[in-house]
Order: sequence, then structure tokens, then C-alpha cells
Amino acid sequence: MSARRPLVVHVTGARPNFPKAAPVLQALGEHDVDQLLVHTGQHYDDRMSTVFFTELGLPRPDVDLGVGSGPHGAQTAAAMVGLEQVLTQRRPDLVVVYGDVNSTVAAALVASKLHIPVAHVEAGLRSFDRRMPEEINRMVTDRISDLLLVTCQDAADNLAAEGTDPTAVHLVGNPMIDTLLRHRHRLDPARVTAALGLPDAGSYVAATLHRPGNVDEEAYARTVVGSLHAVADQCPVVLPLHPRSRPKLAAVGLTDHPQVVAVDPLGYLDFLSLVQGSAVVVTDSGGVQEETTVLGIPCLTLRPSTERPVTITHGTNVLTTHEQLPAAVAGTLAAGRPAPGSTPVPPLWDGRAGPRIATVLARSLGLG
Ligand code: UD1
Ligand code: UDP
Repeated sequence: MSARRPLVVHVTGARPNFPKAAPVLQALGEHDVDQLLVHTGQHYDDRMSTVFFTELGLPRPDVDLGVGSGPHGAQTAAAMVGLEQVLTQRRPDLVVVYGDVNSTVAAALVASKLHIPVAHVEAGLRSFDRRMPEEINRMVTDRISDLLLVTCQDAADNLAAEGTDPTAVHLVGNPMIDTLLRHRHRLDPARVTAALGLPDAGSYVAATLHRPGNVDEEAYARTVVGSLHAVADQCPVVLPLHPRSRPKLAAVGLTDHPQVVAVDPLGYLDFLSLVQGSAVVVTDSGGVQEETTVLGIPCLTLRPSTERPVTITHGTNVLTTHEQLPAAVAGTLAAGRPAPGSTPVPPLWDGRAGPRIATVLARSLGLG
């Protein structure tokens, strides 16, 4: 009788998880393992979830826990209850978790208490701002993970400063960038700008906002909207908005300006086409800071801190405030878009992170 192949369970739940998981699943498929994809269902709308499976060629989830939305405790707990059942039943040899969302920490907690090794993809990022729920998720997940796959040297340095065993840390590059580079040839700014009624590529701002710090509190959201209106005085601003931000920003007058276009979240290819055609991106997203760096599109991040400082030192990212934003956009528009290939890209963001991660995971399972 042949020995059972090692079983690896990948846990995803929210939009930013999918472009990170896709290259890892694909590369690990080249190794002698069985894989199971669990979707917690933290995100469930077609445009927050299904579209990524279709566009990125991700396999359909083997299990969808359907946990849906809710306060942090309820959502994380629901994911834990569902994951505990799956992991107890399937007894995998390794659980792989991605990024910093509630599903990530839920899976890490459950797996580690079942004594199943945990690999954290995108470990070590720190904003040093514990008011961000993601920062808590990152810290807890890293603390209880057995393998820490990092995208950049500063993440490894953060883990070292926290006393993490250096043999558990592997600098592998950025799998989200594997996905971007793999699908880059499919981006079509002209198609998306035509569909949205926007002017030509290079003459609009693309923006995303969903961080609680920017959109949750009404008075603050109003100042953010005032700042966006001052940007829209200069050129059109198109915002594909997360379902929780759109009503909050609409309630404080976002679309009262004729040059503001607010739309539902876009699919991955449409969104990155929009980014590719923009003069500058304004965002509070983590992943978008990385994608603009690789596409060479100027990025103004509307946050006091970033867990991705490498996109500032080796990319196109600049932190800004709502007071500074209109002038920062004006300066960027005046400077024009950088020539293609003229901006730096962090080391190992080369489209080969997935295979590197798969090699580390396979070795940990005693393969090759
Ligand atoms: C989550 C992640 C955040 C990530 C963001 C967007 C955590 C702690 N936060 O925040 O890191 O940047 O997703 O990718 O995990 N909703 C829908 N449809 C959906 C999903 C959500 O309408 O498919 C609405 C619901 O009203 C829900 C709200 O969005 O209450 C919040 O969703 P949730 O995933 O709980 O948190 P996010 O704020 O999206
Ligand atoms: N994204 C998308 N459609 C949108 C906005 C973002 O496909 O309308 C993609 C984006 O290109 C990136 C990912 O979603 O791959 C980032 O997710 P998000 O900003 O929700 O989360 P964060 O990175 O802030 O955790």
C-alpha cells in the first residue's frame, strides 16, 4: 500500500487573499502533495470573491464555510468554528494562511491548537499601528506560525526584532506580484475607461478607500470627501468602492462633485486596467500600494503609516494626509507619469515567489 501524500489546506476568505494564494496553489501543484482550498466566505459578493476565482484560474473552493459579515469577534469566531470542523476531519499536514484578514488569524489559531503546522504567506509586515485590525491579525498570526514567508527584507527584520526563530523565516518575494505579472498582458485601460465614460488614459485619478480610519467616522469621512473634491477640481476621480465604504462616503456627499465617479468594486482585471491607465492612484489599500509600485504608477497612500515601507523606498508610494492630498495630486500631475521601467521594484518581486514558497513548503513536508 502506498503512503498517503501530504495534505496541505489553504485558507482564504477575503479579496486580497485570492491573488496571493493563486500562485502558491499552482506552484505547489507541481509537488507530490494533495491540496484542499477552504474559503471562509468572509467576502461573498461576486465582485469581492467569485470574479477572482474565474479571472485568476483559482480552483473552486473545496469547502465554503459561508461565514459572511459581522463584527470582528463574531466573524472570526464563525470562521474558527467552521475551520475546526474541517481541520479535525481532514487532519492536514500543513495549513497555509495569507495576509492579514480575520480569516487568516482564525485559521492560524485553530490549526496551531490542533498541532497542525501553519505557514503564513506575507508574514512580518508591521504598520506599528494597533488601531488597525489587520495589525493585530498580523502579530498574532506570525507569533503562532511555524513558517514565515516574507515578501521583503524589512518584514524579516521586524520578525527578528520580535525574537522570531530566524530559521523559520524565508524571504521569498511577493506572490501577489506573481499574479500581477502573469496577467499583466490582459490589462486593457482603454476598454475600462470607455466602459466608465472616463477621458483618455493618463488623465484621471483612480482611488480606493475602505480603511475604517478613513471611512467609519462621519466627521472624518466628510473631510476626506472634501479633499477628494479638491482633487476632482483638477481632473476626474474614479472610485471603485468597497461595499462598506460606498454608502458611508455617499452619505457625506462624495458624488456631489460632477467629476467624481463612484462605482461598485471592479473585477481584478478591470481594476488593474483602470490603475494602469490612471495618472495617479489614491488609496488606503495594502495590496494596491504594491501593485502600483510594480506598474510604475504614482501612488498616494492616504494613511499615517504603512506596513509596506518597501513600496516607498523601492517603489512609487508616498504617504499623504487629507490636507496634503490635493497639492500632492497637483504635483504628480505636473510631473507626468514616470517613464516605463524607470521606477525601482523591490528585490524578488519577479513573478517567481509562488515556486519559492512551494519549495519551502515541500521541504517542510519532507519532500525534495
Ligand atoms: C476586510 C479586511 C481588510 C481588507 C478588506 C477589503 C479584516 C479585519 N479586514 O475588511 O483587511 O482590506 O476586507 O478587502 O479582515 N461586504 C459586502 N460584501 C462582501 C463583503 C463585505 O457587502 O462580499 C460588506 C458588509 O456590509 C460587511 C462589510 O462589507 O459588513 C465589511 O466586510 P468585512 O470583510 O467584514 O470587513 P472589511 O471591512 O471588508
Ligand atoms: N481590487 C480589485 N477590485 C477593486 C479594488 C481592488 O480587484 O475594485 C484588488 C486589487 O487589485 C488587489 C486587491 O484587490 O489585488 C487588494 O484588496 P483590498 O484593497 O481589498 O485589500 P488590502 O490589500 O487593503 O488588504
